[in-house]
Amino acid sequence: MPNPRFCPPAMPEIKLPQLADAAQGCSTDHQAAPSPADDPANTAGTGPSVYLETFGCQMNVLDSQLVVSQLRGLGYRFTDDWKAADVVLYNTCSVREQAENKVWSRVGVVGRHKQQHPGVVLGVIGCMAERDGTDMTRKYPQIDLLCGPGELDKVPLLIDNAFKTKTFSGRPPGDLPTDDDLQTVALQGNTHRRSSTLSAASDKLELIDLSRSFTAADTDLPGETTPGAGKSAYVRITRGCNKLCTYCVVPNTRGAEVHRHPDHIVDECKKLADHGVIEVTLLGQTVNHYHYDHSAAIKADGVWQPQVGTVISPNKGTGGPSPSFNDTTTSFADLLHRIHEEVPAIQRLRFVTSLPRDFGDDILQVIADSPRICRYLHLPVQSGSNRVLAKMNRGYRVEQYKELLTRARDIIPGVTLATDIIVGFPSETDEDYERTAELLRFARYKNSFIFKYSPRPGTAAYDRLPDDVPDEVKRFRNNDLLAIQAQASTEIHAEYVGQTVDVFVEGVSSKTRKGLIDSEETTQLSGRTGGDLITFFDGDPSLIGQIVKVKVEQALPLALSGTLI
Ligand code: 5AD
Repeated sequence: MPNPRFCPPAMPEIKLPQLADAAQGCSTDHQAAPSPADDPANTAGTGPSVYLETFGCQMNVLDSQLVVSQLRGLGYRFTDDWKAADVVLYNTCSVREQAENKVWSRVGVVGRHKQQHPGVVLGVIGCMAERDGTDMTRKYPQIDLLCGPGELDKVPLLIDNAFKTKTFSGRPPGDLPTDDDLQTVALQGNTHRRSSTLSAASDKLELIDLSRSFTAADTDLPGETTPGAGKSAYVRITRGCNKLCTYCVVPNTRGAEVHRHPDHIVDECKKLADHGVIEVTLLGQTVNHYHYDHSAAIKADGVWQPQVGTVISPNKGTGGPSPSFNDTTTSFADLLHRIHEEVPAIQRLRFVTSLPRDFGDDILQVIADSPRICRYLHLPVQSGSNRVLAKMNRGYRVEQYKELLTRARDIIPGVTLATDIIVGFPSETDEDYERTAELLRFARYKNSFIFKYSPRPGTAAYDRLPDDVPDEVKRFRNNDLLAIQAQASTEIHAEYVGQTVDVFVEGVSSKTRKGLIDSEETTQLSGRTGGDLITFFDGDPSLIGQIVKVKVEQALPLALSGTLI
């Protein structure tokens, strides 16, 4: 059973350019719509064809890219048509029930398809596989393979074994493989992950990151081309999380916090830059808790081992340095500084996501001092009520959080802020809710991601706190916060009208893709400012992947719009 006391914050939902003009504050769990079949990157190879669909956060997108790169290297082809695929894979998210329901419905449909096409391999990988474990294959026997996020290096082997199992099943009983011979399940399990094998497991995972492909054509997900035509990339800095948020399922699926060696991270950024990447987003469940203790590092076979995270005592959110232990520790601020100084070709350095607790002035100062680090902070608050924050076990009070926002604005002029909020957490009263609405009015976020509480089996809240806020109340609070946020977003956007902003061009806007632009000669492009403000303008698609100057002419509720200069 998962340990309910062990609970980190989840990653925020990804905001891909294709989704950029979707409703603000509403996240999407589905990250991979089918791609154009004529994308050469998707059809290369001569091996079996794979359909891979990704749900959830940026970490899942990166995991999928690593799986794609492994499978492409082995000759697998990718298709956007699941019905034509030999292998159907879903890389899944467990953060809310809704995300899981989408996968169950896909699994049901593929199950029916398999009655006519029994040779097809159906695999569930990622967080749902780890959370549900083999219960899933008992409930859904059409699933041929399961692989948790900590075992993704095994996906090719599992697919191979699933094919062999099918081949073997036509042979005499004596020839049948045993389960041990042909493993089709790779899950870490909660006890395993907390045992002494942790560093060995992370070592193996480190190898997947180290062996990543640096060309977009190798990693583009079926259905998605990398934002900015391969000029933007994710880099993992930390796996797992040691925080104790009571609503969050992630620790059960991604395990304990492990920080990657800073040299590996810097090297990865350098290689990406050598391949033309100009924007890097560092990923971790709580990036501001990144620390790598060099003095404790062990050398085995000449390789530095990743370190297991230590619990950091809160410094009460009153500023001062981030948690740091001694001179031989690389803190998050040190890491940002190193990447900024050592890889100047990365013109935009971003990171998600941060825990408001322990967000030190040293991090804020590095951002302020480094022109290529984006002046944007995603600081999930979750609630504006101290009573609810305590029940969520967030480790800060709303006064400390507000003080952090003020500190961030003082130290980093022009910084933009965003947040995540959960409404309808168990026992949330109207008064608690009003505190959240008040915070939202105070904070002036550029945008907020607002979620209705979803009880997740295995979490402390699920075990101990009844889900007692009716759904219609959750829905009302959700919509009410969206309205408050829409007003703030429009006002913030209005401040940019008349200004010239630098925009990293991510792609063609969805309006153009859907044929909603009147003129046939005009292509509307979409991109982001350094402060993560979505910006639309007309321009040639050859600009995708570049940073251009746009004069802002109009403030929309969800975006800026302007003219290329
Ligand atoms: N119910 C609703 N929202 C949740 N989140 C995490 N767990 C839950 C849950 N059980 C939200 C948090 C987090 C974001 C990624 O998802 O706001 O920051």
